[in-house]
Amino acid sequence: MKQPPVGFINTVLRDGHQSLAATRMTTQQMLPVAPLLDEAGFTGLETWGGATIDACLRFLGENPFDRLRALKKVAPRTPQLMLLRGQNIVQYTSFPDDVVEAFVRATAVAGCDIFRIFDALNDPANLRTAIRAVRATGKHARGEICYTTSPVHTLDRFISFGKELAELGCHSLAIKDMSGVLTPHVTAALVGGLRKATGLEVAVHSHDTAGLAVASYLAAVEAGASAVEVSICPFANGTAQPDTLRMLAALEGHPRRPQHFDTALLQKIRETLEPAYAELKTFTSPANERTDPDILALQIPGGMLSNFRSQLKDLKMADREEEVCHEIPRVREALGWIPLVTPTSQIVGTQAMLNVKFGPWKNFAPAAREIALGKYGRTPGPIEPRIRDLAAELSGEDPVTCRPADLLAPGMPDLRREAAEAGLPDSDEACVLFAMFPQQTRDWFAGKRPDPPAPPKPAAPAAPRKRNMRITVAGRTQEAHVEEWS
Ligand code: CO
Repeated sequence: MKQPPVGFINTVLRDGHQSLAATRMTTQQMLPVAPLLDEAGFTGLETWGGATIDACLRFLGENPFDRLRALKKVAPRTPQLMLLRGQNIVQYTSFPDDVVEAFVRATAVAGCDIFRIFDALNDPANLRTAIRAVRATGKHARGEICYTTSPVHTLDRFISFGKELAELGCHSLAIKDMSGVLTPHVTAALVGGLRKATGLEVAVHSHDTAGLAVASYLAAVEAGASAVEVSICPFANGTAQPDTLRMLAALEGHPRRPQHFDTALLQKIRETLEPAYAELKTFTSPANERTDPDILALQIPGGMLSNFRSQLKDLKMADREEEVCHEIPRVREALGWIPLVTPTSQIVGTQAMLNVKFGPWKNFAPAAREIALGKYGRTPGPIEPRIRDLAAELSGEDPVTCRPADLLAPGMPDLRREAAEAGLPDSDEACVLFAMFPQQTRDWFAGKRPDPPAPPKPAAPAAPRKRNMRITVAGRTQEAHVEEWS
C-alpha cells in the first residue's frame, strides 16, 4: 500500500530554543516568524510546555498563557503542540488529579491542539489522568514513549508500553528520544513494532546531539512513521532537532518526501530567526551546537554532561570523572534502571559522585532516596531491596506502592483560596501556575517582572552558561531550578 508523505512537525518555538538557547526566546521574538511557520505547511508546531512555562515566568516576565494565545492568533492554521509531563504537569513532582485536569482545560482553551504526554519513568499510572483530561477537552492526546538504553529497556518492553498507552486512550504515539541516543535500526524496529501492535500513528522526536537524528528519521520514514520532528536553523541541529532543509535533502528521491515545502519560504524563516539567535548570544554555546560523540561513548546525555563536569569541578573531583562515569550505571541499576532525563539525570549523577567520594551509599542523597521509595512512580526495573530498605530507614518512611498521586487530596479548592488571598484572579490559569510556580506567579500578577534579557553589546564575549545544580525536587513548595533538555 502506498504510504502518504511523512509529516514534519516544527519544534523551533519550543524544543529548538529550549535545547540551544536555554529556553529564552521571547514571545516578541516569536511573533514575526510564527505566521511564516504557519504558512509553510508543517503538520504541527510545537510552541508550548516543557521548560517554556517556567522560563516565561522566571526569566522573561511573561504570562505563558498569553504567549499561547498570541501564537494561536498569528498562526491559526497549523495545529499547535505542547509537552506535558503527565502527573507532574511541567514540574518535577506529582500534582493532584484536579490540578492536572484544570491545567489541561485551561491549555486547551488557550489554543493547544495536541498534547505530547510523557512520564520520565514510562509509568502508565502517571499518565492516566492527563490522557483522560485531554480526551475530555476533545483535543488530541499523543502518548510519548521515553527512549533510553538499559538491560530492562527492551524492544518488547517499549512495545507493551505503547499498547498500554493505546488502552489508556491515546490518539497517537511518539518515540521521544530526549538525549539523542536513538539509532536507525532500533528506530525502525520500534516504529514498525508499535504500529503493528497498536494500529496507531507513530511519530518520532529525537535530538541531533550525537549526529544520529537524520539517519534515525530516515529509518522511521521507511518504517511508516507518520511524522518526524524537525527544527529550523539557527535553532536546529546539535542538541536540538535537525534542520528542516537538511531533512528534506535527506529524503530527496524518497516516495514519502513531502513535496509542498517552498525552500524560499524556509530560507525566509531562517533569516527571520537569525536576529533572535544573535540576541540570545548569552544563552547559546558552541558546546550545544556541535555533534558530540561523548554521549555515545559514556552513555550520558549531552545536556547532563556539561552540568556533570562543572559539578565535578565544584566538588574538586575533576580528576575522578572516569570513576564517576563507571558508577553511574551502578546507581541506575540500584534505582531500577531509571532513565537519565531531567530530573533523574541530576539525581543519578549526584549520587554517583557521592558514592565515589564517600563510598557506596554512605551518603544517600534525599532525592535519590525518594526514587528508591517509589515517590516518582514505578521504576522500569526493581529497586535493589537493600537500597530501598536503607532509604526507608534513613527517611523514616515506608515505600510508596500505589500511584503517587493517589496519596494527594484534591488541590483546586485550597489553591483557589490561597490564590485569592495572594490577590490573584480566581481562574484555572492563575491557579495552576500558582500551584507550580507560587512565587513567580505571585510576582507576575503583582507586576514584579524580571526585565527581558537585553541584547548583547556588539563583540561582547559570550558568558559561560551558568547552571543551577540544586536538586531538591521533591515537595510542593520546591523552588529549585534545573536546566533541562527534552
Ligand atoms: Co526534545
